[in-house]
Amino acid sequence: MELQHSTVLVTGATGNMGPYVTDSLINSKATVIGTYVTEAARDDVETRAEHADAVAYQQIDLTDQTAVEAFAETVADEHGSIDHIVGLAGGFSMGGIDDTDGDAFQNALNRHATTAFLTVKAFVDHLTAQSGVVLFSSDRAIDPVPGTLAYNVGKGAVRTLTESLDVELDARVNAIAPFLIDVPGNREAMPDADFSAWTAPEVIVDEVLHLLTNQGVTGQIVQMTGGQPEGAA
Ligand SMILES: NC(=O)c1ccc[n+]([C@@H]2O[C@H](COP(=O)([O-])OP(=O)(O)OC[C@H]3O[C@@H](n4cnc5c(N)ncnc54)[C@H](OP(=O)(O)O)[C@@H]3O)[C@@H](O)[C@H]2O)c1
Repeated sequence: MELQHSTVLVTGATGNMGPYVTDSLINSKATVIGTYVTEAARDDVETRAEHADAVAYQQIDLTDQTAVEAFAETVADEHGSIDHIVGLAGGFSMGGIDDTDGDAFQNALNRHATTAFLTVKAFVDHLTAQSGVVLFSSDRAIDPVPGTLAYNVGKGAVRTLTESLDVELDARVNAIAPFLIDVPGNREAMPDADFSAWTAPEVIVDEVLHLLTNQGVTGQIVQMTGGQPEGAA
C-alpha cells in the first residue's frame, strides 16, 4: 500500500521524533496534519523539519475531549477524511514510587494513554480496513526499570490500548515500544551514555511507515532496542 494521496494525522509532531516522521511522510507524498501544544515547540520545529511548511500544524491539548472533538470537525472540514494516525504525543518523566504523587501518576496516564485514546475515538469514523494506526509505547512498558514508575504505567496503558483497539476496529492498530531513541534531546540529557545502544530515529521512522502500509501486520507491540540506518558506520 502506498502513502501517496493519503492523509496522515501525526500527534506530537513538534517533539523530538516529529520532524523525522513528518518529513518522511511528506517525502512519501502524503498530506500531513501535525498537532502540538506549545508555541515554542511550534516555532522550533521550523528549524528541525525540512518540510515544516508542508505540514498543517494545529494546536490542541489532546487530553481535552471537547477540544479534540472540535479539532476532528475542523480537520474533516479542511482536509476531509484522514487515512492514518501516528500517535507520538507523550513525553518522558522521572520518578519512582517515593517521588510520584497521585497528580504525577494521573498526568502520565493522561499524557500517554488519554491523548491516544481521545485521538483515535474522535477520528474512529474516518478509519477503514485500509487505515493504519501507530501508537508509541515504550520498552519500559514491557521491561520496566525502576525510577520511572508513572511513565512505565502510562506506556503500559498505551500497550493495552493498542491491543484493545486492534480487536475493536477494522483498522490495523500497532505500537512501537522503543528503548532510548538517539535524538538530540536524549544526548543532551545523558551526555555520558553509550549512544551506540540507542535506536536511530530513522530506524523508528522506517518501522512507522512499515506499520502504516503493511496490510499483514496488526495488533503488534514492536519492541525496538537498538539499530542504525542501513549504510551507517
Ligand atoms: N525519545 C525517546 O527516547 C523515547 C523512547 C521511548 C518512547 N518514546 C515515546 O515516543 C514518542 C515520541 O518521542 P519524542 O521523543 O518525540 O517525544 P517528545 O519529544 O517528548 O514529544 C512529545 C510530544 O507530545 C506532545 N504532547 C505532550 N502532551 C500533550 C497533550 N496533552 N496533548 C497533545 N500533545 C501533547 C508534545 O507537545 P509540546 O512539545 O508542544 O508540549 C510533543 O510534541 C513519545 O510518546 C515518547 O514518550 C520516546
